[in-house]
Amino acid sequence: MLNLGIIGCGNIGRTIIRAIYEGKIDCKIIGVFDANKDGYNALSDEIKKQIKFFDNFDKFIEANTNLILEAASQQAVKEYAVGVLKHDKNLMLMSVGALNDKNLFEEIKRTAKEKNLKIYIPSGAVVGIDGVKAAMFGCIESVTLTTRKNPKSLGIASDEEKILFDGNADEAVVKFPKNINVAATLSLAGIGFEKTKVKIIADPNISENIHEIRIKGNFGEILTVARNLPSPDNPKTSYLASLAAMACLKRITSEIEMGT
Ligand SMILES: NC(=O)c1ccc[n+]([C@@H]2O[C@H](COP(=O)([O-])OP(=O)(O)OC[C@H]3O[C@@H](n4cnc5c(N)ncnc54)[C@H](O)[C@@H]3O)[C@@H](O)[C@H]2O)c1
Repeated sequence: MLNLGIIGCGNIGRTIIRAIYEGKIDCKIIGVFDANKDGYNALSDEIKKQIKFFDNFDKFIEANTNLILEAASQQAVKEYAVGVLKHDKNLMLMSVGALNDKNLFEEIKRTAKEKNLKIYIPSGAVVGIDGVKAAMFGCIESVTLTTRKNPKSLGIASDEEKILFDGNADEAVVKFPKNINVAATLSLAGIGFEKTKVKIIADPNISENIHEIRIKGNFGEILTVARNLPSPDNPKTSYLASLAAMACLKRITSEIEMGT
């Protein structure tokens, strides 16, 4: 049985909690940890009766869980990821941009290996990660991500279309930490942060978060476009990201694994 603990009871955390309570995934939520109780308070009384809220990580991590889902922030990954693994719990990460810190990523991987644990990284708000992983066994020439969002979702005001960033994923995750988990996921699945090209465009004429991925290699070419609707209570988060985390949990609890 999957006994889940969740770090971060925000938009993604609550969406997953509700899905589990609707019986969509066969697992039990033991507790949630958050520095702020507002998100937990927004859950229904019925759900709150069954899930313990922790504002103290040391107490949270002692609870009887075997997988911790981080849906909080890059800072939370820095603060808690290694501690989660040291307590013999598998880890699922949503704030993937944090793994651009190479020392942190190496420590997370080393600890997971020593403890024989798994780190799960859902494909999040992007499509085509399966293809990138497969293409890595051939030869990839280039990976390009073009992210197009409404200026509000990027935290700026603009009446016209503007290229805000054109560079590699390494710089993109630093300059747009709250918006660029997709670049991090794509980089980790493929040719790395330095070689993955990223363009970020603010477009006042759209309401969706659009991620276009183009991969060229000796297998041919992959082009995917995800036109994501923002989550109802957080315009910066694509709804597909929460759904991808659910699909990842479902894969862990199922007999059959689909895709690469
Ligand atoms: N992988 C992807 O494709 C993808 C897509 C969207 C969002 N995300 C990331 O997932 C994370 C959660 O997104 P969200 O929309 O649910 O955010 P949110 O702001 O709605 O909720 C985050 C919650 O985590 C809590 N939190 C943050 N840092 C914390 C810390 N250090 N300690 C304890 N609690 C902390 C906050 O109090 C808040 O309740 C964000 O980092 C976001 O960038 C990833």
